[in-house]
Amino acid sequence: MLIKTDQQGFNHPVPSEITSQGVYENRRSLMKLMASGVAGAALASWASREAHAQAISSTARPGKLAALPGVKSPVAGALTMDKVTDYKDASTYNNFYEFGTDKTDPAQNAHTLKTSPWSVEIEGLVKKPGKYTLEDLLKLSAQEERIYRMRCVEGWSMVIPWVGYSLSELIKKVEPTSAAKYVEFVTLADPKTMPFVGSRVLDWPYVEGLRMDEAMNPLTLLTFGMYGEVLPNQNGAPVRLVVPWKYGFKNAKSLVKIRFTDKQPATAWNKAAASEYGFYSNVNPNVDHPRWSQATERRIGEDGLFAKKRKTLMFNGYEAQVGQLYTGMDLKKFI
Ligand code: MTE
Repeated sequence: MLIKTDQQGFNHPVPSEITSQGVYENRRSLMKLMASGVAGAALASWASREAHAQAISSTARPGKLAALPGVKSPVAGALTMDKVTDYKDASTYNNFYEFGTDKTDPAQNAHTLKTSPWSVEIEGLVKKPGKYTLEDLLKLSAQEERIYRMRCVEGWSMVIPWVGYSLSELIKKVEPTSAAKYVEFVTLADPKTMPFVGSRVLDWPYVEGLRMDEAMNPLTLLTFGMYGEVLPNQNGAPVRLVVPWKYGFKNAKSLVKIRFTDKQPATAWNKAAASEYGFYSNVNPNVDHPRWSQATERRIGEDGLFAKKRKTLMFNGYEAQVGQLYTGMDLKKFI
């Protein structure tokens, strides 16, 4: 039985206070103004833009969720000048099959997810295994804001300002042994709070995986927030993965376990349909899905009647940052 709720119903660890989402939106308008020359300060530093945005934010509406602002990320590729997707679209058009298979199901149903207390078990081939609470993880490194293009295997895309830090920060801290070649990500599968975990659509829990060098790439983000606030439940609260050069399903939500292993993990979608969803799942416009082309994409929010589809970019536009990870690999074979 699915009960509809509003945004207030989401349960988060920190009380809601500040309107970071408003700050965020105001900053975008300011940047747009600057780009068009109206503000006449094209060389202003990020810091002064931030200060300016903060100053005008007092008129913005209050945020729904607790603030989680991040400093501008120094990681190459962490910013795109593409127009950011509306928060409303990013938080109501979701894939989170534990809460239903329709795009609108997670926003309606995920209020039952209990995100506090929360911990992530670190295990396997690692020198410092153990249970890390959400608070431990939040403290581990400074929160950065990264505006990433996201491309779903289904042919749509969004641009989302995520908040978190490079997964490599956590990995360095827990010290994997030299035998660790892959990282497996296991997500919550709680039939009491996740109404579709009993369904047969996938073999639960939802599991994803990365090769160690992919997990260590600075672009791979351990993510706690978006749009300057903590993650809404439907986007994978309280902690998820974001790997922007791969199809969206690699971005495991609501993580409970990170396991270091010497074998390639069996991932949920690969187990469900190996010919359609490979382990690597790098965004690649030259390799079609068996049932559709991957050459173009529909940007959510630009889908008017006459909106043109966009060309999908190799590695989702992050080739300069990650192309070298796949040197010598046949990307038609290693899908
Ligand atoms: N994680 C879990 N646990 N369950 C899921 O069903 N769906 C994946 C991924 N992570 C999924 C998941 C898919 S198919 C996509 S496209 C992205 O989450 C969507 O993330 P978003 O809703 O934040 O855009």
